Amino acid sequence: MRTIEWHDGKVRLIDQQRLPHEFVVLEYTDYRDVAEAIKTMKIRGAPAIGAAAAFGLALAVTHCPASSRAQVLAEFERAADLLAQTRPTAVNLFWAIQRMSEVANSPQWKTAEQVVNAVVQEAQRIADEDVEVNKRIGAHGATLIQDGDNILTHCNTGALAVVDYGTALGVVRAAHEQGKRIHVWVDETRPFLQGARLTAWELQQAGIPCTLITDNMAGHFMYRGKVDIVLVGADRIAANGDVANKIGTYSLAVLAKENGIPFYSVAPTSTIDLSIASGAHIPIEERDPCEVTHIRGVPICAEGIRAAHPAFDVTPHRYVTGIVTEEGIVYPPFTLGLKRAKSSATERSAQGPPRFPQDKNTNFSYNE
Ligand code: MRU
Repeated sequence: MRTIEWHDGKVRLIDQQRLPHEFVVLEYTDYRDVAEAIKTMKIRGAPAIGAAAAFGLALAVTHCPASSRAQVLAEFERAADLLAQTRPTAVNLFWAIQRMSEVANSPQWKTAEQVVNAVVQEAQRIADEDVEVNKRIGAHGATLIQDGDNILTHCNTGALAVVDYGTALGVVRAAHEQGKRIHVWVDETRPFLQGARLTAWELQQAGIPCTLITDNMAGHFMYRGKVDIVLVGADRIAANGDVANKIGTYSLAVLAKENGIPFYSVAPTSTIDLSIASGAHIPIEERDPCEVTHIRGVPICAEGIRAAHPAFDVTPHRYVTGIVTEEGIVYPPFTLGLKRAKSSATERSAQGPPRFPQDKNTNFSYNE
């Protein structure tokens, strides 16, 4: 199944807290439960968070007892406010809420029923587009991968982090599907262990050779010549190409530059935030320090030890070799290329339903 799905007026999602040891599908009819699932990271990964917010809004209007258009829109606003407070860094959350809000509030809907139908359809469209977008990203990104490459990745950017397929891990998947013999170094990704729990599991399921390492081993393998390329995701990309991603990404980028290894961020254009000039303005989520002092509920330090937990860091654009999007690969200087990629994606979305893979026009790059 997809990471998140709409089924008969309900939202179904894979509980990522329980993976890899248990595969549990949660079913919700209340948008408040979806908000809680995002906050507690039962569903996580920037594009998946965006899709979850969209489906949460669809739940809010579907199960709203109101009969007037105005009442349904008031319920939509309440749900949008709550969902927007769940996680601050991934811009896909706000992108999805904004897109849903434009559709819900369109003056062409005269009745409550029309609003509900439009909102549910738009949520489904966001989910379907996400899958198409990831396949495009995979096709562009796979051109960077050579037969025999050792790829290093961080956090989880696979099918679980999106609706299906994956971003950075989608590139890995596409290269594997093309028959390239690749191997992936999987950072465990302390403290929440998305790499160990989710990425290693996804790669195992797909039959892609991988080796799990602790985060502090990355430099060792880079120095020894065992890493050919670093592929990571993004939670928000500023207009100048600075990339916010899972904590630890910045260290990897600096190590990659020091060792002459290309470092790519792989993300849909919905992750690009042109309203933010540089990474300095990206809000960084602070999570519960218990996620640092404990591993899956087991304490790893003396009681009362103070811990910090910024969940993301910002990699300055000078460390980024390129940004792989569904519209092509953007190279430095990033400002113009990111703008073009974003408007090209807006045009494509306006053209209607997904056309991949019939549409062959996927092989171009923004190289300023
Ligand atoms: O805290 P998470 O697990 O939601 O963080 C996820 C990441 O940092 C991913 O790299 C990013 O969202 C891209 S997912 C395709």
